[in-house]
Amino acid sequence: MRTNFPITAFNDIETPFYYYDMDLLRETLATALREAAKYEGFHIHYAVKANFNPVILAAVREQGMGADCVSGGEVKAAIEAGIPADKVVFAGVGKTDKEIIFSIEKGIFCFNVESVPEIEAIERLCAERGKVAKIAIRINPNVGAHTHANITTGLAENKFGINYEQLDEVLDFIGGCPHIELIGLHFHIGSQILVMDDFIALCGRVNELQKLLQESRGLVLPHINVGGGLGIRYDAPDEYDVPDFALYFATYAKHLHLQKGQQLHFELGRSLVGQCGSLITRVTYVKKGTCKQFAIVDAGMNDLVRPAMYGAYHKIENLTSQKPCEEYDVVGPICESSDVFCKDMELPETERGDIFAIRSAGAYGEAMAFGYNCRELPKARYSDTI
Ligand code: LLP
Repeated sequence: MRTNFPITAFNDIETPFYYYDMDLLRETLATALREAAKYEGFHIHYAVKANFNPVILAAVREQGMGADCVSGGEVKAAIEAGIPADKVVFAGVGKTDKEIIFSIEKGIFCFNVESVPEIEAIERLCAERGKVAKIAIRINPNVGAHTHANITTGLAENKFGINYEQLDEVLDFIGGCPHIELIGLHFHIGSQILVMDDFIALCGRVNELQKLLQESRGLVLPHINVGGGLGIRYDAPDEYDVPDFALYFATYAKHLHLQKGQQLHFELGRSLVGQCGSLITRVTYVKKGTCKQFAIVDAGMNDLVRPAMYGAYHKIENLTSQKPCEEYDVVGPICESSDVFCKDMELPETERGDIFAIRSAGAYGEAMAFGYNCRELPKARYSDTI
């Protein structure tokens, strides 16, 4: 087993808390960068939304990655962590004037724009300040990803991006905006994608569109951004601790036809930070029902919402007991029936006080925690300092 939990130290720490294996994080970031560096012009921007914990952001900055942000708050967090503004991209369908002004003033690399009214707002706010903003048009590629419906983004029915049919109109509009420099095209089809076929389909769309723009307008933009989406193995966090970045980047290198000098940008979140984090929680009670037994833990859906929100599976381990296995529903203390981490899970016979690790929780775990039921937000601990 790869992850070596410092269980003796855990015994003395108030639960629940997120535990980050910093060696695994650094190895994952370094592997991704090394694999991307095999291809000329490939750049990785870490998707801050996956985890904005400052210690995680510091590790990202140390390795020299850029950042992909979806709010003014994320742009601020990335810059405060020391990520250079000229490596920050800012996406999102609802950027407010305040967020746009902040980002213009910081001099971010690029706005990934999603509508004409947004372009209008950026043009106006830049004109007022005598600045020019760089933008990439987010295209809705109408490619379905084989993943959960709530995290598919690239279909025509989703709110994201600009549809192919509207592209001409948008390009004409940009032509009349002196404070906007169009530098690229942006795409993102969804998240937790494990089959390369979906990325290959996206490459096909990008190639088609590039050809069309070149033929119809003589337009070749210097930057292509294909978003993120590479998934992790929630079922086997130790066997697949570092995702297969070699295959991921090789897939793009093979299938996406870049023009001479074009740069290719990636916005990876989950694959970079997912496996390094676990939610550590203590069993408050074991309750035997008539047809079930429940391990009631002190973490709830407010600490890790993915199982309740998406029906997501996270492997759970009892770090204390090595007894023979029994079946448990692992549930939290929140007053909601959906506050369930896993049903009918085989776990070593469990007692009050046992410590569980809910695995693969480094992405969209701590970042999505909330304070429902007047609960404190979960704290974090790090393998470097425990
Ligand atoms: N770029 C854009 C434009 C995105 O919308 C996202 C994720 C990413 C990059 C990063 O995707 P990743 O590499 O992490 O798959 N809360 C959900 C996931 C939501 C993803 C939202 N967008 C979950 O817990 O599964």
